[in-house]
Amino acid sequence: MSNQNNQILKNTNAQILDEFNASIMFDKELYSQDIKGSIAHSQMLCEQGILTKEEQEVIESGLLQVKDEIESGKFEFSLAYEDIHMAVENRLTEIIGEPGKRLHTARSRNDQVATDFRLYVQEKSLSIKEQLKQLVDTFVNVASKHTDTLIPGMTHLQHAQPLNFGYHMLAYANMFKRDFQRFESSYERNNYSPLGSAALAGTPHNINRQSTSDKLGFTAPSAHAMDTVSDRDFALEILFNISTSMMHVSRISEELVTWSSYEFQFVRMSDEYATTSSIMPQKKNPDVPELLRGKTGRVYGNLISLFTVMKGLPLAYNKDTQEDKEGVFDSVRTIEISLKILNEVIKTMIVNVDKMENACKIGHLSATDLADFLVQKQNMPFRTAYYITKDVVEKANSLNKDISELTVEEIRESNDEIKNIDEEIVMYLDLRNSMNARTSIGGTSTKQTENQIEDFKTWLEKN
Ligand code: ARG
Repeated sequence: MSNQNNQILKNTNAQILDEFNASIMFDKELYSQDIKGSIAHSQMLCEQGILTKEEQEVIESGLLQVKDEIESGKFEFSLAYEDIHMAVENRLTEIIGEPGKRLHTARSRNDQVATDFRLYVQEKSLSIKEQLKQLVDTFVNVASKHTDTLIPGMTHLQHAQPLNFGYHMLAYANMFKRDFQRFESSYERNNYSPLGSAALAGTPHNINRQSTSDKLGFTAPSAHAMDTVSDRDFALEILFNISTSMMHVSRISEELVTWSSYEFQFVRMSDEYATTSSIMPQKKNPDVPELLRGKTGRVYGNLISLFTVMKGLPLAYNKDTQEDKEGVFDSVRTIEISLKILNEVIKTMIVNVDKMENACKIGHLSATDLADFLVQKQNMPFRTAYYITKDVVEKANSLNKDISELTVEEIRESNDEIKNIDEEIVMYLDLRNSMNARTSIGGTSTKQTENQIEDFKTWLEKN
């Protein structure tokens, strides 16, 4: 190979390597946390007499200038500076000269990246929590309008017992409330400052970790430098929290797909959130909930991916952890847009009360009420009552009726053991009465649903 060719190959290899090694193209997302962390660090160094007041001031205003440049799109992100930490420090030194070179005293990129990334995760935990709260509020609002709207409750996707639609909505309010609490508790658990852990073992400089921790809004400095620079539990926790929320997003989306089908027609999605087919002009497709359901996959993928990155790492920092960020950024973006859109879809969906109530007349939803009646009023063992009820269901089928539509005579004719059943049974088999009979704590009766709505309102005010 000629000398010249050799040189080209070397350059190309170096370029590929730079590209391979660098994280700047994605960790630039952390620029504001990086600058915030650096300002806090410089202020602490000044308090401790490690930087002079003049040095600190020029560093701080230089960092703010870098921030401006990034935000106005003037900053040039180049592979020459591997990651956001090097890029910011380098530009700072270009702007202010000598003092810029003192900023990295008593710090390593290892505690720096751990700090930046943790700040990002903490900030996002708070904003996602806020979105979840809004979503709970939306479900509670829809619920409060439909505490008397009957909908068939299902198990195995088969008609089971009548519910009110508000109650069904509150199931999701409960899921998203737990999600909110998950973000809250992981926030508390992870709110410890890595800054000052340095490379892995702390630093001989006379730093004050409490001071940087306070400035950055952490609860306290983390307890163990080596653990802190290599630990990514906080990132895994947000990935898990997001995965769980997306699983809930996906479940309601699945119901929206089903409910908006011709077969159900329980809800109609507002035109804004339904799309048309390019070939079938009559169609309205639920692309939006389908996408919400589909996006759950990548979020699970990001969780498993980081678990896998972390599982074999020896202490302390290893470059593998650079792979921690893209998945988290992606999951955060995905949940943010998903919660926003789901919130709008739920707010604007049109509930078809008649379709829901008519569907309740299929499948003998109040059959259990007959068995319960026999147990309560005639002291019959439940299993006996169960078999008698089966006969009544058969009778109803033979008459092409729902059990809730039978006359007392028809019920009496179904089985000898109930030939004298009190005529009030007819009331018990009424679908709305059946729903309202479920007054146990957490049950579907309108009264219980209203109680639950009140509890949610109190919770929403407090949080
Ligand atoms: N870009 C690196 C990361 O994201 C920053 C830390 C680099 N530290 C090191 N010793 N190479 O993990």
